[in-house]
Amino acid sequence: MNILVTGGAGYIGSHTAIALLEAKHSVIIADNLCNSSSGTIRKIESITGKKVTFYEMDVTVEEAVESLFKTHSIDAVIHFAGLKSVGESVEKPLNYYSNNMISTLNLAKMCLKYGVNRFVFSSSATVYGDNIVPFEESMNLLPATNPYGETKVMCERILTDLAHANPAFSVSLLRYFNPIGAHESGLIGEVPNGVPNNLMPYITQVAKGKLAKLRVFGNDYPTADGTGLRDYIHVVDLAEGHVAALENLIEGVHTHNLGTGNGTSVLELVNAFEEANRIHVPYEVVGRRPGDIAVCYADVSKAARELGWKAKRNINDMCRDAWRFEVHNGTGKTT
Ligand code: NAD
Ligand code: UFG
Repeated sequence: MNILVTGGAGYIGSHTAIALLEAKHSVIIADNLCNSSSGTIRKIESITGKKVTFYEMDVTVEEAVESLFKTHSIDAVIHFAGLKSVGESVEKPLNYYSNNMISTLNLAKMCLKYGVNRFVFSSSATVYGDNIVPFEESMNLLPATNPYGETKVMCERILTDLAHANPAFSVSLLRYFNPIGAHESGLIGEVPNGVPNNLMPYITQVAKGKLAKLRVFGNDYPTADGTGLRDYIHVVDLAEGHVAALENLIEGVHTHNLGTGNGTSVLELVNAFEEANRIHVPYEVVGRRPGDIAVCYADVSKAARELGWKAKRNINDMCRDAWRFEVHNGTGKTT
């Protein structure tokens, strides 16, 4: 298939582009590089030995998106492009609503106009809110506590309505849990903007000596060691989940959790990182971070049953690959 990958220069999009190319699909990337760099495109090509068609463009600009659909015969869209920082979304809600909603609306509109019937959307476990674990796709979604989460719920809704109104349209809503790690080549991975918000990039920067120590946000949660529990998934497993979702996509709306089904606490991740890489990660326990939930992990049986996909890589692989990337590339924008 000829696949339009928006946000394909970013963290998850770049790993997915590699997985798609390895599965013999063609990839067209549209990215405005607001959180990534064009060097990633060359790295994708050098890892796979295949050519990528790249457009530096903002997918909130309808004319730009339309010109893509006119120029290329597109079979499917995977829409990663979006802003993703929860904290920033609280401070700048309009940026989040306009970027994340308008990009999705533009792409959906052009899919209808040009007869492109396959759409895969990057959603998030955040849509489950503080439901009972494990989170199942059939659960009622809880109101998001921040504009970022709200955009994910709203985009899911728009794409669902569109598929109901257009029976030939196929939509895959993929709810990611906590992607970490990097490509095993050490060439691509995630470089957060400024001081990281997320746990793994914070750990790697502490290990490298860029930051003094990790702050563990709370050890009084109802978990075995009191720290927050998450379902960490290797970004390459997540990428392969997209290929499975796309290749098994049929008419209608299909929602799948992409996680491992296992919960790992903050302190367990720190210990696993230290063991995998034989490096010390100093930390201190501080108060809870506002908005955090105690426990978040997926029921992954639906993805296994319907997509024939399961995460293969373990926490040790995630820690090793995250560190390899930090050691080789820990500067600049994504990759
Ligand atoms: P990322 O920031 O690394 O990648 C997003 C890419 O989209 C970047 O390259 C950025 O330059 C591009 N982009 C943003 N707005 C754009 C626009 N208007 N036009 C063109 N390009 C634009 O983020 P990521 O971690 O790879 O996340 C990809 C998607 O997955 C996002 O939609 C995110 O919300 C979602 N997601 C991520 C996580 C996570 O933990 N990383 C979890 C759940 C869902
Ligand atoms: N944590 C710390 N110290 C830090 C950073 C995080 O103790 O410096 C803890 C958090 O309190 C939490 C766990 O580590 O218990 C994971 O936190 P992350 O920030 O890495 O991830 P979240 O689960 O909070 O959020 C991530 C994405 C969201 C997405 C959500 C669900 O950032 O966008 O996963 O997919 F919605």
